[in-house]
Amino acid sequence: MKLLLLNGPNLNLLGTREPEKYGTKTFEDYFSELQFKFRKIELSYDQTNIEGELIDKIQQARQIYDGIILNAAAYTHTSVGIGDAVAAIDIPVVEVHISNTFSREEFRHRSYISPNAKGVIVGFGLQSYELAIHSFLNDADE
Ligand code: DQA
Repeated sequence: MKLLLLNGPNLNLLGTREPEKYGTKTFEDYFSELQFKFRKIELSYDQTNIEGELIDKIQQARQIYDGIILNAAAYTHTSVGIGDAVAAIDIPVVEVHISNTFSREEFRHRSYISPNAKGVIVGFGLQSYELAIHSFLNDADE
């Protein structure tokens, strides 16, 4: 099982970015913990601040991975192109958000990813990613 954790804009700043919303841990530190916890599966992590690069990475992932755990961050709420990329590929995409986007501003309530996602996990802090990994697994795989 090979899964790609793919983060969009500003998530490279996790740890120092608005810690009251996103916590104080860097994604790199969290990712190391995930790799240890789920050592029987192959986890990869990538991040970009650029919309077209997210589209490229989603397209490329379909040849390599069994699924994508995608936090498109602000582009979730704006990007028809990323939504179309998710629709275009046949590997499952689980959409995640660290914060509960539905308890925040109205513009964060819309997602262009959700209609084509396998599922959506929102608001559990960094644990949202872990819950998404579980959604791909049977207990025997962990
Ligand atoms: C986010 C929520 C988005 O609304 C925001 O633009 C982000 C992070 C989250 O994980 O909570 O950058 O995707």
